[in-house]
Amino acid sequence: MKREQWGTKYGFILAAMGSAIGLGNLVRYPSVVYENGAGAFLIPYFVALFTAGIPILFLEYSLGHKYRGAGPWVYQKLSKKWEWLGWWQSIVAFVILSYYMVILGWALSYTYYSFGAQWGEDTESFFFNDYLGVTEGVGVLGGIQWKVLIPVAILWALLFWVLHRGAKRGIEWASKFMIPILVAMIVLITIRGLTLEGAVKGLEAYFTPDFAALSKPEVWINAYGQVFFTLSVGFCTMITYASYLPKRSDLANSGFIVALSNCSFEFFAAIGIFSALGFLATQQGVEVGEVVAGTLGMSFVVFPQIINQFPGLNSLFGVMFFVSLLFAGFTSAVSLAEPGIAAIREKFGLSRKAAVNWLCGASALLSLLYVFKGGLYFLDIVDYFINNYGIVVSAILMVVLAGWVSKQVDSLQNHINDVSIVRIGAWWPIVIRFITPLSLAAMVLWNIYKEWM
Ligand code: PHE
Repeated sequence: MKREQWGTKYGFILAAMGSAIGLGNLVRYPSVVYENGAGAFLIPYFVALFTAGIPILFLEYSLGHKYRGAGPWVYQKLSKKWEWLGWWQSIVAFVILSYYMVILGWALSYTYYSFGAQWGEDTESFFFNDYLGVTEGVGVLGGIQWKVLIPVAILWALLFWVLHRGAKRGIEWASKFMIPILVAMIVLITIRGLTLEGAVKGLEAYFTPDFAALSKPEVWINAYGQVFFTLSVGFCTMITYASYLPKRSDLANSGFIVALSNCSFEFFAAIGIFSALGFLATQQGVEVGEVVAGTLGMSFVVFPQIINQFPGLNSLFGVMFFVSLLFAGFTSAVSLAEPGIAAIREKFGLSRKAAVNWLCGASALLSLLYVFKGGLYFLDIVDYFINNYGIVVSAILMVVLAGWVSKQVDSLQNHINDVSIVRIGAWWPIVIRFITPLSLAAMVLWNIYKEWM
C-alpha cells in the first residue's frame, strides 16, 4: 500500500498546528493557569515545555518520519516487545476523541444559542438542567438528551466525511481552511476583550503570581499534563502525521514552528479570555476569582454570562467565541482519530474508509455515554484517569524506550539532522535519556509521596 502524503510542507505544518491548537488551548489552559498559581504557573509550564514537551515532540516527528508508520508499527521497530505502547497511546486518543466530540457538540449548540443569548439570565441552570438535563432523580443513565445528541451526530458525520477524504484532501484541507480563520477570530476577540471595562482586573488575575503554588507537586503534574495535551504529544498523533511527510522534510524547523505557534496562541488567547472575565467581575462588582470556573464551566456557564453583559453586538461576540472552539477543536478531533485509523489500517490491511468506519463508529458509540442525561459524570472520571495515568506515564515509557531500551535516540538525532536545515544539537539525546525521564519520574514520585505519606 502506498503511503499517503501531505500536499505541501505548509499543509503539514497547518495540520500539526490544527492538532495542537484545540480545546486544550481555549478551554483547558485558562482555568488550569488560574487554579495552579496564575502568573507563577508559567515557571512549571516552561520547565515542562523544555524538559519534556518539545523534546518529545521531536522524538515523535523523528520516529514517524524515519519508520514511516503509525504508533504500534513504529514502537515495534524500536523493540519487538513494545508494540503495545503504540496501541495504548492510540486507545487513549480514541477515548479522548469520544468526549472531545461531545464538547464540540455543545459548542455547536451554543453557537446557535448565541443568537439573541437564548440561555437567559441563569446560565448555570440553563447549561446543566435545560441543556444537559442533569436533573436530580434520573440516575446516571437517565435517557438520551436529544438537544445534545443532534449536534454531536452532525459533527460525527462531518468528521467521518473529512477523514474519508484522507490526509491531504481531508485533514490538510480542513486545517488550511479553519486555522487562519480561527487565528483571525481570536485576534479580534482578544483585542475587543482588552478594550472592555475591567480588563485590567482580569489580566491581574492571569499574571499575579502565587509562588506558594510551586511547592505543590500537583501543580507540576498539571503543568506537564497541560503541555503534553496542548502539544498533542504522547498519543502517537505527531508520529502518524510525520509519517505522511515526504522523505526530505525539515523536521526540526516544523517542530519549532508548531510548538511556538501553539504556545503563543494559548498565551495570547488567555489574555482575551481573562480580560473578558475581568469585565464580568467588574459588572457584577465581585473579584475575578469569583467568576472563574472549572474548564467546562468557564466556556459554557461563565462565557454566556459575559455575552449577556456585553456592550453591543453581543450575539456576534458569542458566535465568534463558540465558532473558535468548533474550529480549534475539529482539527484536533481529526488528529485524535488518525493515530488509531492509521494503526488499524497497517495492522489489518484495511482501506482508509473501512478503518475510519470502524474507529470512528466505535468512538461515536462511546460518545453516546456522555449524551445520556447525567453523562457528565463519566466525563469527569475519564478526564481524571487520562491526566493522571494516560499521559505522564506513557511519556516516561516513550523516552525510556527510545533512550535506553532501543538506544535509538542518537540515530534519530542523525535522522533529523540529515533531513532538516535547522540542526538539533547534542542537547537533545541527553534530554531524552536523562532529563525527561528523571524529571517526570521525580514528579510522579513526589506526588505519590505527598498523597500517601
Ligand atoms: N492538542 C489538542 C488540544 O489542545 C488535543 C489533542 C491531544 C489532540 C492529543 C491530539 C492529540 O486540544
